[in-house]
Amino acid sequence: MSTEVPEYERDDAAIRDGIDEEDNKIPLWFNLGFYGMIVVGIVYLVYYTQSGWSSAGQYEAEVAVAEALAEEVRASLPTTNVFAGNSEAIAQGQEVYTTTCAVCHKPDGSGMVGPSLVDPYWKYGDSDEAKFASVAEGRPLGMPPWLAVLGNEKIWKALAYVDSLPRSDAPGVGSPDYQPPQP
Ligand code: HEC
Repeated sequence: MSTEVPEYERDDAAIRDGIDEEDNKIPLWFNLGFYGMIVVGIVYLVYYTQSGWSSAGQYEAEVAVAEALAEEVRASLPTTNVFAGNSEAIAQGQEVYTTTCAVCHKPDGSGMVGPSLVDPYWKYGDSDEAKFASVAEGRPLGMPPWLAVLGNEKIWKALAYVDSLPRSDAPGVGSPDYQPPQP
């Protein structure tokens, strides 16, 4: 009994060099795979370019999440000095001020290398937030950034001390209207 699969007959089937040319029908699974992959390729191409699903889209989504988080953190940061009027914090702030700030702003805050911190003129704003930014991030004309050195709390305390210093109405060092004392 023969178990041979019957061959598909082709009119021009030939024997060449003693090798019988076989011409079987392409199996269905192969054709399905072949055309299937073409369909998958087209679908993938369209989907990838049109749906926004790509590493660029993923990146943008992650950035959006991070930005929302940063916004939240920023919003939760104090914008007013919680140590204002707190005598213990002011005493600690005085220590910070004396060791870190007084060299440039003078022990009484009236200014030397740095501008006066007790006159009415504030170049970068006199809100607690603006003053904190001046100290934390520094300012271009010679004010170093202190955040990494002091941290939030010491900066707020130093500013609470500055706020407690006796104030002067006259334009001080650094103010555009400042008049140096005549000898
Ligand atoms: C190396 C000298 C130096 C030291 C130290 C220094 N400052 Fe200043 N500070 C300056 C200078 C210079 C400016 C002006 C910067 C400008 O105009 O861009 C300034 C500006 C400021 C301002 C902004 C003033 C305004 O008119 O808006 C504040 C507030 C301030 N300093 C607080 C402090 C505090 C608090 C410390 C201590 C933690 C400190 N500074 C340490 C030099 C210094």
